Parts: sequence; structure tokens; C-alpha cells
Amino acid sequence: MAPKELAIDWIEQTLERFPRTRFAHLPTPFESMPRLTEAFGGPALWVKRDDCTGLAVGGNKTRKLEFLVGAAIAEGAETLLSFGALQSNHVRQTAAAAAKAGLGCRLVLVDKVQYREPAYETSGNVLLDDLLGADVHIVKNDAEAASVARKLLDEEAAAGRGVYAIPTGGSNAVGALGYVDCAKEIVAQSRERGVAVGSVVTAVSSAGTQAGLSAGFAALGADVRVLGLNVYNADFADQEQTLRRLTTDVLASLGVEPANPPHLEIRHEFLGEGYGIPNAGVVDAVRCAAECEGLLLDPVYSGKAMAGLRAMIEAGEFRDMGADAVVFLHTGGTPGLFAYRDALVAS
Ligand SMILES: Cc1ncc(COP(=O)(O)O)c(C=O)c1O
Repeated sequence: MAPKELAIDWIEQTLERFPRTRFAHLPTPFESMPRLTEAFGGPALWVKRDDCTGLAVGGNKTRKLEFLVGAAIAEGAETLLSFGALQSNHVRQTAAAAAKAGLGCRLVLVDKVQYREPAYETSGNVLLDDLLGADVHIVKNDAEAASVARKLLDEEAAAGRGVYAIPTGGSNAVGALGYVDCAKEIVAQSRERGVAVGSVVTAVSSAGTQAGLSAGFAALGADVRVLGLNVYNADFADQEQTLRRLTTDVLASLGVEPANPPHLEIRHEFLGEGYGIPNAGVVDAVRCAAECEGLLLDPVYSGKAMAGLRAMIEAGEFRDMGADAVVFLHTGGTPGLFAYRDALVAS
């Protein structure tokens, strides 16, 4: 990151313009990972601890939900409606945000991940959704999800309650503002600690996290490469288009045309057999982060991203970075550990 004047105050003032309900524990810690750096054979690895954002075990959705719930309340909504997979972290955090804000929460979960063990259907996020008091509807496919959502909207309308619908993953131009804020935090913390950040690596599914970070660094004028590792979408062209559209939308809502538009970079080769299906490299990365740094990743998102980062380091992809650090964004997902027990336990 070049030591130049960055638009930190401008970003802070711009974000103030948007409705926001504050429940995140911010700033999240920014920590070095010397033992993982050594285990993987360098570059210098740091971690941005967005697993510590608070809101029912933390994770990347807390930042997005601050802006989404802010918008819902500003519109006078009384109920949040959202969508996800059976073990979605996003819906668990949406249920927690609704509980904290005194809103109703109705969730439509599509049970389509090709992974099964007894805990997958009952533990992890499924258990927490129930504890958090959400009204959960489990369906088999997207068509059924659309028809259940219509029925829920009709019920809420009949009861006279306004509904705020949050897309899968909380990824739209509103939710992604949370990651503009995170880009600002990374810039401020790395300057404070004297760390030159070359790249930020993150898991990507609905793409709001990468879009917000990319828009945020570009708006700040910070020369940081954001590297997204696709853990979700087998249609790679669609994934790239989603990221481009969201990033453009976020920059438009900030009202900025950066001098250097963000270079959007997604890697797809670490998706493996598909969304929600861990492989040996993922299990190894989860165990390695736990044993080296006491860091709990998850088998669907952060663990798969860490496995990808490790593979890239081992292939020598960061060799030309000099002393620049790689920051791994820990996006959370901890409850997933309990839903994937059989996949993770050492035999
Ligand atoms: C733990 C975790 N990490 C990463 C992601 C990906 O974030 P995004 O959907 O913004 O791409 C998600 C999204 O569901 C998640 O739950």
C-alpha cells in the first residue's frame, strides 16, 4: 500500500449518509499469523478477524446486516425475509439481527447441498436459527423457495406488517457497504501497525464481501489487490458478472468514480466438487489453522479459501511480492464446524 493520502475521512462521512443499526464489534482484530506463515512457506500472513464481529458467533454478515437492518427500519418494516442454504451463516445472523432489532424473521432454506451426515440437518446453523426464534421453512429447490416466499409475503401483507426482503448472502449495494467500511479498517489498521498490505484474500459466494472490499479500496485510493476464491458458483461466468455488477452498484451508491477502477479477480479452481462439499485439502487447512494459530475456520467458506491460499503459496504465486503481506479475511462460519463433524474428525 503506497504511503499516500487516502480518503479515509471521506469514506467515513459518506457511510454516515446511509441508515445503519450498529451491532457489530468493530474494529475487528488485525493479527499476524507467524506460525501459519512458516507452515505455508511465506509470504507474511495476517488475518482480519471478521469471525469476531459479534451477532450470534460472528461472521461477515454482521457488517452487511448493519446497513440492511438500518434500511429495513428506515422503511418501517417489521419483518425480515431472507434466503439461504440449510447451513447458511447468513440466515443465522439475519435471525440474530432481527431478534436484536425487535423485528420478525422468516427464512426460506433450500436443502440442495450434496453433503449429508446426521449433524448437517440438526446442528450448527440449523440449531441456532431455531434458538434465535426465526420462522424457518425448508424447501427442496429454488422454484419451491419462490412459491413459499410469495406465500409468506401474502401472510405478512394480510397481517399489515411491512417486509424487508434481504437477498441470499445479504449481497446487494446496501449490504456490501459493510465491506467498504472493512476496507477502511484494513487500511487504517495496517498503517497503524506499519504493515504493507499487498493482497486481501477472501472466500466468495454471493460476492457482496468482495464487491464491497474492491469498491472500498478503489474509493480510498489504496493499491490493494482483492483476491476472491469462489466457493459457491459452478457457473464461473455468472459469478464474475455478479461481482462486476455489485461492485459497479456499490461505487454508484457511494457516488464515486475512482481514478483507478478496481481490478476484479476471482479464482475458481478451488471450488472442488461444489458448494458445501469439503475435500482433503480443506480439512487439512482447517486443522492447520487451528493447530498453528488457534484459529477456527469452517469447512464451506473460510476453510476452502485457506486451502486455496495455501495451494497458491505452494505454487509460488506470491513469490514476487517482496515484503508485502497477504491478509486473509476470516469471514466466520464457525457453526459449520459442528454440522460437518464427520468430515473433520481425524480417522
Ligand atoms: C462464513 C462465510 N464466509 C464467506 C461468505 C461469502 O461472502 P459473500 O456471500 O459476500 O461472497 C459467506 C457467505 O455466505 C459466509 O457465510
